[in-house]
Amino acid sequence: MLKNRVDVLIGAQWGDEGKGKVVDTMGTGVDVFVRCQGGANAGHTVIVNGEKIVFHLLPSGMLYPGKLCMIGNGVVIEPEQFLKEIEDLRERGQDRARLVVSPAAHVVMPYHKILDKAQEAFRGKGHMIGTTGRGIGPCYVDKYARSGLRVEDLLNEDRLREKLTRILEEKNRILTKLYNEKPFALDEVLDPALEWGKAMTPYVGDAVELLQEALESDKHVLLEGAQATLLDIDHGTYPYVTSSSTCAAGGFTGTGLPVSRVDRVIAVVKAYTTRVGEGPMPTEEKGDIGESLRTRGGEFGATTGRPRRCGWLDMVAVRYSVRLNGSGVIALTKLDVLTGLNEIKVCTAYDLNGKETTRFSSDSYVLEECRPVYETLPGWSEDISHCTTFESLPEKAQDYVRYIEKHAGAPVKLIGVGADRNQTINREFY
Ligand code: IMP
Repeated sequence: MLKNRVDVLIGAQWGDEGKGKVVDTMGTGVDVFVRCQGGANAGHTVIVNGEKIVFHLLPSGMLYPGKLCMIGNGVVIEPEQFLKEIEDLRERGQDRARLVVSPAAHVVMPYHKILDKAQEAFRGKGHMIGTTGRGIGPCYVDKYARSGLRVEDLLNEDRLREKLTRILEEKNRILTKLYNEKPFALDEVLDPALEWGKAMTPYVGDAVELLQEALESDKHVLLEGAQATLLDIDHGTYPYVTSSSTCAAGGFTGTGLPVSRVDRVIAVVKAYTTRVGEGPMPTEEKGDIGESLRTRGGEFGATTGRPRRCGWLDMVAVRYSVRLNGSGVIALTKLDVLTGLNEIKVCTAYDLNGKETTRFSSDSYVLEECRPVYETLPGWSEDISHCTTFESLPEKAQDYVRYIEKHAGAPVKLIGVGADRNQTINREFY
């Protein structure tokens, strides 16, 4: 295991690549796990000995005893969800990691969730984003409008009362006059917020300083990205994106990690493509193939339960992500889901108004017009779920992996061949 290393792990598609599992498999070698952006819109699934655990807010390293797990300033925290996840772990006897939350992380308040849903309804059919409804967008809006509440505000009653009084004055006007929603009484929000503050106090700590100390003492730090590159607020398929910087760069602002300290940017790529919510997806298969991928891959949202849109691997998109993030290594997930298909298609270019291009466009209007140009590769029928080495994979599965490496321009160092922690092929990844 390599020490003194800083890894940033990001999703290279539209999320749900299986980042939680990759983080979990890296577990023993990592000392510090850090969530850097997003909030409870994420759903990171980890399966240990057949038992499924879904983290929405806590870092996926929480299952490892004695590790330091941090929630950075870039995350937006829904306190009830946060406390529930801790309680769930406690009940299972798995609350063995040390958890520290940045006091500068913003808090998702009840009015954010109402606003999220009201704004979606206001956008109306054809313009909805298909958000998770967890209040993420409105919370980040308040952060940048400088009218948000941070975790540190929950710890001081006078300060919270004063801020919340001002905030509610504005929010209630928006809620009632614009969206026809009920206003919030101060105590209705203040009382639970103070309770959350009390319950969260033991976890609040100087995350920036702890990270510095970890770097100085040669710890292996892993920044765990949520959502994925194509949902990035700047570089994703705007406006069908989430409200945070999901690219590797978001890991720096979201934690205080010095930019110069990163050793490796790991791009997690699923062996095919999925997307939840609205927005363009050039390789979407609305027929049997899509249905088959959804069923085989269990492609239903970990947060909302929504069926995910499914399709073939889009290498134009993956290459864009790998280059944008400067990813030197790929962790490929769910290769086993493709077992049994006679042939596998891969999108290597787009046809845009009769012209072929290998350039991805984050302009949704343009991407909507892109038609996939496919290459067809032969499939394999052998069960790969017990393979532990690259060489033990069927030749055709090896070819598929090599094909991805060639088109992405980065080596595939980790391959997922099943849901469990142990169903992973390590090619000098660890
Ligand atoms: P929001 O993050 O809830 O505002 O949702 C914005 C878009 O990002 C929607 O299309 C969501 O479906 C999508 N999204 C948010 N979080 C995730 C995730 O963890 N996985 C996949 N899609 C996500």
